[in-house]
Amino acid sequence: MRLRGRKNIKESLERQPELVVLEPQQWKGHWHEFFGNDRPIHVELGMGKGQFISRMSGNNPDINYIGMDIYDELLRRGSDKARLVWQELGQDRVPNLALVRGNAEYLELMFDQGELARIYLNFSDPWPKSKHGRRRLTHPRFLMKYKQALDDYGEIHFKTDSLTLFEFSLNSFSETGLQMRNISLHLHRERIRDDLVMTEYETKFVGLGQPIYRLEAVIGEKALHDYRIQVAEERQAESRRGGVKETAPE
Ligand SMILES: C[S@@+](CC[C@H](N)C(=O)[O-])C[C@H]1O[C@@H](n2cnc3c(N)ncnc32)[C@H](O)[C@@H]1O
Repeated sequence: MRLRGRKNIKESLERQPELVVLEPQQWKGHWHEFFGNDRPIHVELGMGKGQFISRMSGNNPDINYIGMDIYDELLRRGSDKARLVWQELGQDRVPNLALVRGNAEYLELMFDQGELARIYLNFSDPWPKSKHGRRRLTHPRFLMKYKQALDDYGEIHFKTDSLTLFEFSLNSFSETGLQMRNISLHLHRERIRDDLVMTEYETKFVGLGQPIYRLEAVIGEKALHDYRIQVAEERQAESRRGGVKETAPE
């Protein structure tokens, strides 16, 4: 019975090559050909059932999305979800999304240097035992892989319900010399931030009243430059309003 289930899942995935990519290494360096355009590519590592990545693709047709997970069953569920989102938008095909069977461990086999513009890490497995720290997707060894794959405007957006993972990740981002911004220890404290699109896990934890921790890391040189200018301008505007002269960061 289980075997038949697996066979059905495999067949279902193989029937959708325009949406489901089972051998992502074949597209390394050519993802723009897969999508048929040069738009930026945003990836969610560990997409689960695909709610976040499907909705993001529907909300932002000018961006190409890739949802990655290890499990075929999750790819199947993700493909159903994505088709539903786009059907609601009046389209029977999903133009800007690829659901990829892959392990973040081998990211460099799937993406060329600078091929991605953004990486989302949503509710990554916390691996609470310290002896498993190297498996956490925010471990410095993973951050180095992300740095390689991201372009000049590259960013990482990370959210989790796990305070332990968040604490670990703050140190990890800092050790790797990454510029963090928009750090939140309770993302939905004042209002539900549905502008950021909730994931399945997030919906569950928010329903239980748990805080969501979030941060963004600015990686690419051009993104860093733009961020520093923005901060300097905000400081100047602030000091003009308050009459206090402040020094802009370098
Ligand atoms: C806790 S779930 C979160 C799912 C979804 N992002 C959400 O927020 O609802 C973590 C997901 O990451 C996937 N995952 C874990 N390690 C991974 C890895 N090394 N590469 C790709 N996916 C991974 C798991 O299969 C699982 O679906």
